[in-house]
Amino acid sequence: MKISVSYLTSKDLENDLRKLNVTNADYIHVDVMDGKFVKNKSLPFKVIRNIHKYTNKRLDVHLMVKKPLKFISDYATLNTEFITVHVENKYVDKSLDLIEAYGIKTGISLKPNTPLDVLDSYLDRVDLILIMSVEPGRGGQEFIEDTIDRVKEVRKKLNEAKSKALISVDGGINEEVAEKLKDADILVSGNYILSSDDFQYQIYKLRK
Ligand code: DX5
Ligand code: ZN
Repeated sequence: MKISVSYLTSKDLENDLRKLNVTNADYIHVDVMDGKFVKNKSLPFKVIRNIHKYTNKRLDVHLMVKKPLKFISDYATLNTEFITVHVENKYVDKSLDLIEAYGIKTGISLKPNTPLDVLDSYLDRVDLILIMSVEPGRGGQEFIEDTIDRVKEVRKKLNEAKSKALISVDGGINEEVAEKLKDADILVSGNYILSSDDFQYQIYKLRK
C-alpha cells in the first residue's frame, strides 16, 4: 500500500514538509482549490512552487478547480508524478491530453455522489482513479462509509477492463478505515498523520 500525505490541515507547512521528507511516505498530495469548484482556496502556485526546498518527494497533484486547463502547465513544472482532474469538470479529455503531453501520469477523481459508470470511458487511458471519501474542499472530515463498496466496484471494473489504473482513496483515512480498503493501491491521508507527533508511526499503521 502506498501512502500519499495531504498537508491541507497543516498549521506549519514548512516544518511539516521537512518532517514528512524523512518518513517513507510515497508522495506528497498537493490539493489545489480555486474557490469555484470547491468553496475554499488553497495556497497559490507562487507559494507551492517552492515546495522542493522542503521535500524531494514526488507530488500527487489533486486539482479541485473549475478550469483545470489553466493549472496543469504550472503544476507540471514541479516534481510531479500525477496530476488528477475531476470527472465532474468540463474538458476532461483535453485536460488528460495536456497532462500526458507533459509526460505526467494522469488521474481522474470522482466526488462521493458521482455514479461510478462515468469512469467507463477513461479506464483504458488514465494511470490513477482518485475516489473521494469526503466531499472535496476541506481536510479533517469524517470518512464516508459507502466508499468501501465503491472501491470494490471500481476494482471489479478495472479487472474487467484489464485497466492498468491505480486506485487511490482520499479523505478521512485512518487506521481502522485503512483495514477495509485493501482493494486500493494508494491511500491519501492528511489529518490522521499531521495531527500526530509521530508521522512515521501513523504512516506505518496505515500500511499494515
Ligand atoms: C479534500 C482533499 C483531501 C484531504 C485529505 O478536499 O482532497 O486530500 O485533504 O485530508 P484528510 O485525511 O484530513 O481528510
Ligand atoms: Zn485531495
